[in-house]
Amino acid sequence: MVAACPASSGGGAEGSTSTFLDYQQLIIKVETTPCKRTVKLIYKPIKLNHMIYMADTANLDELRELYSFFPLEGVTTNPTILSHSGHKLSESIEGIQELVGTGMVHVQMISAESDDMVREAKKYRSYFDFGDNFYAKIPVTANGYRAMRILKDAGINVTATAIFTQQQALVAMKAGADFVAPYVSRLDNISSHGIEVVGDIVQNIANYGLKGKVLAASFKTVDQIYRVSMAGSHSATISAELLHQLIKHPMTDIGVKQFEIDAEGLYDIAF
Ligand code: E4P
Repeated sequence: MVAACPASSGGGAEGSTSTFLDYQQLIIKVETTPCKRTVKLIYKPIKLNHMIYMADTANLDELRELYSFFPLEGVTTNPTILSHSGHKLSESIEGIQELVGTGMVHVQMISAESDDMVREAKKYRSYFDFGDNFYAKIPVTANGYRAMRILKDAGINVTATAIFTQQQALVAMKAGADFVAPYVSRLDNISSHGIEVVGDIVQNIANYGLKGKVLAASFKTVDQIYRVSMAGSHSATISAELLHQLIKHPMTDIGVKQFEIDAEGLYDIAF
């Protein structure tokens, strides 16, 4: 025999569990038993309108070409990328700044000590007359974490870089990093799983309601970019070569060619 439920229990006749997104994008889980209805808030995902693409190059010719058609929101650099540009830091960053306007520019610090990293970041920010579009890229070393906190307290944006684990990213966000950059290919190349690390960090951000964003980095294939976007990465920084490749499809080219042929003599309105 089933015991009678109190009148105000809110329970349903049958036990059930349902999960849904409410109008504020909160994930709600409703558990209904014969005597009780429990509503649980699971987590609130951070709201972003779109995936942010950035160019992982300091080559000004490549950037000029990319910026002419690709909806980019910034440029990321590191000492290796800058060494390929053929210019010194001051010249490279000035050129990039001119191209991106108010877009983000991520510049990596080369100091080893935290105080030096902070001085370096402040110097670049003022030297190039950057505003809030400047991001100091700081590697996730003990000194790096220390510098991140100091820079955030000074109102300077931080991108935590050289990330290989979800824990490094989580600690960086707790230290105030705005972006955390896991290295996808470098992980894949040591028989680890770059996409899984990206997915885990995305999940942490959602679970804990953190303000940081994943900036997936170090790509060697278009498939990796596809998979980090499906894992919910908030942004990705991508080489010029891969940015060109990821928008290409031979069927698109064939389709466009056919449209051109079929339009011959048909479109009679001058423009
Ligand atoms: C970007 O911020 C990283 O420094 C970069 O993507 C690393 O790429 P790599 O692994 O190809 O050197």
